[in-house]
Amino acid sequence: MNIKKILKELTLEEKASLLSGADFWHTKAVERLAIPQIMVSDGPHGLRKNAEGSANPNEAIKAVCFPTASALACSFDRNLLTMMGKALGEECQAENVSVILGPGCNIKRSPLCGRNFEYFSEDPYLASEMAAAYIKGVQSKGVGTSLKHFAANNQETRRLTVNERIDERTLREIYLAAFEGAVKQAAPWTIMCSYNRINGHHSSQNKWLLTDVLRNDWGYNGLVMSDWGAVDDRVAGVKAGLDLEMPASFGKNDKLIVDAVNSGKLSMRQVDKCAERVLRLVDKAEESRTPTKWDMEAHHELAAKIESQCAVLLKNDEDILPLGKDEKICFIGEFADKPRYQGGGSSHINSFKVTSALEAVKDYCKVEYAQGYITTEDKTVPELLEQAIECARYNDKVVIFAGLPDNFESEGYDRTHIRMPECQIELINKIYKVNKNIVVVLHNGSPVELPFLDKIKGLLEVYLGGQAVGKATCDLLFGEAVPSGKLAESWCLKLEDNPSYLNFPGVGDEISYNEGIFVGYRYYDKKDMKVLFPFGYGLSYTSFEYSDIVISENEINDDQTLTVSCSITNTGSRAGMEIVQLYVRDKESSVIRPVKELKGFEKVSLRPGETKKVVFSLDKRAFAYYETAINDWFVEYGEFEIMIGASSRDIRLTASVYVNSKTKLPVQFTFNSTVGDVLSCSEGREVFGGLIDKFCKSMTDANGEGLGSNSMELAMAMLKDTPMRGILCYDERPEINRVWLKEMLDRLNSMMEE
Ligand code: BGC
Repeated sequence: MNIKKILKELTLEEKASLLSGADFWHTKAVERLAIPQIMVSDGPHGLRKNAEGSANPNEAIKAVCFPTASALACSFDRNLLTMMGKALGEECQAENVSVILGPGCNIKRSPLCGRNFEYFSEDPYLASEMAAAYIKGVQSKGVGTSLKHFAANNQETRRLTVNERIDERTLREIYLAAFEGAVKQAAPWTIMCSYNRINGHHSSQNKWLLTDVLRNDWGYNGLVMSDWGAVDDRVAGVKAGLDLEMPASFGKNDKLIVDAVNSGKLSMRQVDKCAERVLRLVDKAEESRTPTKWDMEAHHELAAKIESQCAVLLKNDEDILPLGKDEKICFIGEFADKPRYQGGGSSHINSFKVTSALEAVKDYCKVEYAQGYITTEDKTVPELLEQAIECARYNDKVVIFAGLPDNFESEGYDRTHIRMPECQIELINKIYKVNKNIVVVLHNGSPVELPFLDKIKGLLEVYLGGQAVGKATCDLLFGEAVPSGKLAESWCLKLEDNPSYLNFPGVGDEISYNEGIFVGYRYYDKKDMKVLFPFGYGLSYTSFEYSDIVISENEINDDQTLTVSCSITNTGSRAGMEIVQLYVRDKESSVIRPVKELKGFEKVSLRPGETKKVVFSLDKRAFAYYETAINDWFVEYGEFEIMIGASSRDIRLTASVYVNSKTKLPVQFTFNSTVGDVLSCSEGREVFGGLIDKFCKSMTDANGEGLGSNSMELAMAMLKDTPMRGILCYDERPEINRVWLKEMLDRLNSMMEE
């Protein structure tokens, strides 16, 4: 396609028409110039393509439902995500879908968000790495992705209108960072803007977000589309950099664009820019079309394999797991027969088949089964409960399949609590009375309270594990696969502990992200709080030893890269995989910073007795915070601790490095700058040090302040918060006055600029 030429030939009306969808899933064609339409479809953990000839957007073709993002992120495995992306890419190619609408990269600010199952993590680094790996996989097959929902779509309550007050440092370090990494590493063909407003502006018309940050700061040159129905003011959207409105506006907004250009309110250049990006996408999609066949059964197997590397073993007392084939085992709970394996809403896949644990267990042994509870309402059914108790009484081990039913969490609304259904809790408590060998398998999109934790010996968290979850679960329960997932989010003891608790979901349309950067473990660690399970936690059937941390330098400049390595040994008797996590801490900082932040991770596969070296590279961003004074990332000079561990609360190795900053923060000292601030830099000490020393001395000599002898430090402690104008009172000489002070401060400020 000769895009420049086509742009010249298109009429204004035709250009405007390209800037919105033809219907729910297609862009518009311009037949006169042979511009075809392309199809987009949800996403993200399977293909939800509208069935041929159906006008109902919820009628999708049969496809494969892979594990949802909440599960996927627990794999901490980039290769796995890429593998899944490739499979999705193949499916899209085969079905003529040019862009799959995902992955979702929003941060799990609160466990209540109804859509958390579609998001990766509370940690932006992990979220961006997972998203990037997925995007690379899909796009390697010549199919585009739509990284969504840009940005800060962290709740479902009033998601189309809510106005989130978020300070810039928090946006940059947490909510945008998740997108930034994925955009820079993987260049998604498209990005989907979110519904919500950020600091007063709808994302669909937020120039700062869509152009200043996304394009100018991050260098993104793909297409931005709206979330479905996210457009508020289409003309403002074009000005802000929203290329494509989805779905169709039935020509209404196209006309507004035409009118705005004709009346001079919108420039043709801006329309051209958006139209050009739509044409580029269409061109790329057409160029990338490849005849492809895909194998449903093979993708089902892949879904099982992926899930087996995502599930997290949270408890395994007395090594109750793995189960033996010869043991007398019963499975209890409706989810053993009909697993909950995906969430509700736009990501819902029409699975071509589902493998339940009850079916998959036939490959291992015979088990007894009792339904135990119902999921249609939270009500104990006495006969089901009785049957389950009887079933549990005469077996060696009981595996209870529990978790959240569909109506507990979904796109479109948030949870109001994090409790499990009462009927399931009663079931577990009653079974405990007749059998102490209980393993619980949990199916849920987001953390729950576990009031029964001390009554069970084993706990396997499978999240919403895709259509093959039953096979993966049985492989893990019987030790055919070894658990290797770790939590991508902290599990709080109670909802009230969560940092967003006081401000979720806001009042009316207003919400303030008052917890700032302290999301998830950044908050629990800073407050030294107990959690149910920490970020990065997960057990295995084998054990690992960490040793030999080595850093490439003891001191670096912030434009250099630090290499960190360590050795991991499998000290158990089974082959297994370990997720090695690297966190960084600024030991002393003049801004408030988290106790630690994840800056690297690797998943290593080890045979019994085997040792492997793991290597990490840390660049400036690993040490930096976002400094609004310079609108940039900034490393404060000083010592940083490198922590390598098996979870955020299980640090096994540490090392220290000094990082020198290549950037100076602009400083302007004024009459109201404190003595302490002035003396904190060498220039300040040079100009004022002698004088301040003299004042301190006079305070101690005269003993007038009651400081006692030898108390220069105390005098300084008293003086350090005094504004510079205050020191004039300490000197009776007339020439030590405001004019003199102004001159001295000017001198200091010019020294600071050098
Ligand atoms: C969701 C998107 C989805 C779109 C199309 C919206 O309501 O927020 O994630 O891709 O619908 O189904």
